[in-house]
Amino acid sequence: MNSIIVDQVKNNNELLISSVQSFYRNFSSLFRKNQLMLILVNSASDILLVESTHPSNPYIKPGTKADPLLVDYLLNDQGETKISQKLISGKINHRVTNWELLMNWYFTGINLQRNQKNIFHFLFLLTPDNHLVHLLNPLIQSFSKTIEENLLNKEKISQLNISKEYIDIISKSSKDGILCLDKEANIKYMNEVAGKILHVNPEKSLNQYIGEIVDFVPVVLSVFKTKKGYTDREFIIHSRTWGTLHFIKTAVIVKDIKGQFAGVVDFFREITRVRKFVTSYIGAQAKFNFNDLIGNNTQLRESIRIAKIAAQSNSNVLIIGETGTGKEMIAQAIHYEGNRKSGPFVTINCGAIPRDLAESEFFGYEPGSFTGADRKGRSGKFELANGGTIFLDEIEELPINLQIKLLRFIQERQITRIGGIKQIPVNVRIITASNKDLQKEIQLGRFRKDLYHRINVIKINLPNLKNRKEDIPSLIEHLTKKLSLKLEKKSPAIDPSFIQSLLNYDFPGNVRELENIIERILNICDDKILTIKHIPKEIINDQNQTNYSLIEDSKRHQISSILLQTDWNISKAAHRLQLSRPTLYRYIKKWNLNQTKTSFNYY
Ligand SMILES: Nc1ncnc2c1ncn2[C@@H]1O[C@H](COP(=O)(O)OP(=O)(O)OP(=O)(O)O)[C@@H](O)[C@H]1O
Ligand SMILES: [Mg+2]
Repeated sequence: MNSIIVDQVKNNNELLISSVQSFYRNFSSLFRKNQLMLILVNSASDILLVESTHPSNPYIKPGTKADPLLVDYLLNDQGETKISQKLISGKINHRVTNWELLMNWYFTGINLQRNQKNIFHFLFLLTPDNHLVHLLNPLIQSFSKTIEENLLNKEKISQLNISKEYIDIISKSSKDGILCLDKEANIKYMNEVAGKILHVNPEKSLNQYIGEIVDFVPVVLSVFKTKKGYTDREFIIHSRTWGTLHFIKTAVIVKDIKGQFAGVVDFFREITRVRKFVTSYIGAQAKFNFNDLIGNNTQLRESIRIAKIAAQSNSNVLIIGETGTGKEMIAQAIHYEGNRKSGPFVTINCGAIPRDLAESEFFGYEPGSFTGADRKGRSGKFELANGGTIFLDEIEELPINLQIKLLRFIQERQITRIGGIKQIPVNVRIITASNKDLQKEIQLGRFRKDLYHRINVIKINLPNLKNRKEDIPSLIEHLTKKLSLKLEKKSPAIDPSFIQSLLNYDFPGNVRELENIIERILNICDDKILTIKHIPKEIINDQNQTNYSLIEDSKRHQISSILLQTDWNISKAAHRLQLSRPTLYRYIKKWNLNQTKTSFNYY
């Protein structure tokens, strides 16, 4: 226990102790010759250090207590020191046994200071030689000065080391490139990320002129002319060796003590990283994979089979399907299961962007390109999707001028921002979707044929829900579970009557409509089992109407056919139809049947 305390005391005072030690080492011959002893004591009267050539004294050693009165002696009532006001000799303090052993020694003490402030550590100088008594005071004053200076230097160095440690950690863990340049634009520091972005070796680049290590004119050089830094500015640079370098940069001016320009610290971040952050921030990530697609319908399985092949390729995909058939789901699954999985998945709904903003939404714009635009310029969705997939939904709504630009992009794989001249390479996979017959749009002159052929490399047709009713039961089960989870409710059981009534419905809104119906029901009901009584009225009514007209249709068909067969003999027909004659007449009247109509309309 004791040793731990000593160790702690030691740790806390390490710098001070080492300062006193190095002082003693430098003057050891002086100490030896004159039998001097130096003792360092803290404010709690712990002896921290004893430096002496005198045979060691078991009572005066580090870790033991010095006489607290000794420390008191050096302080007046206000806690200020009374340094060397007195020099006492002979008996140090009769009341303290430890020090009694030094009864014939003379001593003086001083309170050590840092920047003229007491640090409440005390230095004592002792000698048994009475000739030296008059020298003790001047000696301890000059000793303490030297030790204090030494301590100050040590502290500065230690601070510098800590700062360097911080800087090392910051620059190593930073995902930004960091470059420190002196006033001649020579490299003074470069972190590894900067080396990677600029394709140079950070260590070998030290002290070299920045213009010499890269094969383009470094944009940071402009700061050396203007002496003005900037924050988050975007730069696109063409390197002969490395192609296009695209980053966001911040340059900070460094000044010396006199306020003179002393260099620049340059921070830069590759645009791909910025985009990654943006896409994760705005949630441009695919959520669905192929396992999320429910259904065993042959046509759906065939579409999924093709989509899985598409996922392994980079070809453009066109997905055709009515609203709510799962076009976006399939597009996400293709992205999610392909090699662009970790890249962004960016959706543009071509039908939802105002026409005059569509181009800037697609390709971005340079600063000051048009009124109302952001002053700094902005990158478009294509750039944001770099390294990933862009999903162009409702492609048939794309204005003709953009159809041409999209076609050009597909050929060149580069974009030019509005108001810009630079071509920016963008690596995206294009998936388009439409709920219209694009061939028809081509015939109507609303869609370019050449673009159609470009986007239609792999075509996926998604069936309507009414054409795959066999999947409705499993979809109901899946969606009920999924939505209960979302609504944080216990998933209810499903009664056959619930499924049956939905099987009779046509679902013009396809799976999305089924999903909405179930979500609405789960929202308002807490029952343990879903039955026909939970089905919204309009859906049942809709079915009744259909069923009713269906029944009516077939009845009308039957009656007309019998009338025709019996040559409009009402009695015979009524008999065969098992209707009374007045009832048959009522039907004839209701449907306005007559001999010509029956033959013409129903056969
Ligand atoms: N096969 C499926 N299995 C499970 N859920 C599906 C399936 N198809 C569609 N869905 C569900 O239906 C909803 C609509 O799907 P999605 O948004 O992909 O359709 P869409 O064809 O893009 O529709 P729109 O044309 O209206 O944009 C989704 O929320 C999804 O949960
Ligand atoms: Mg969609």
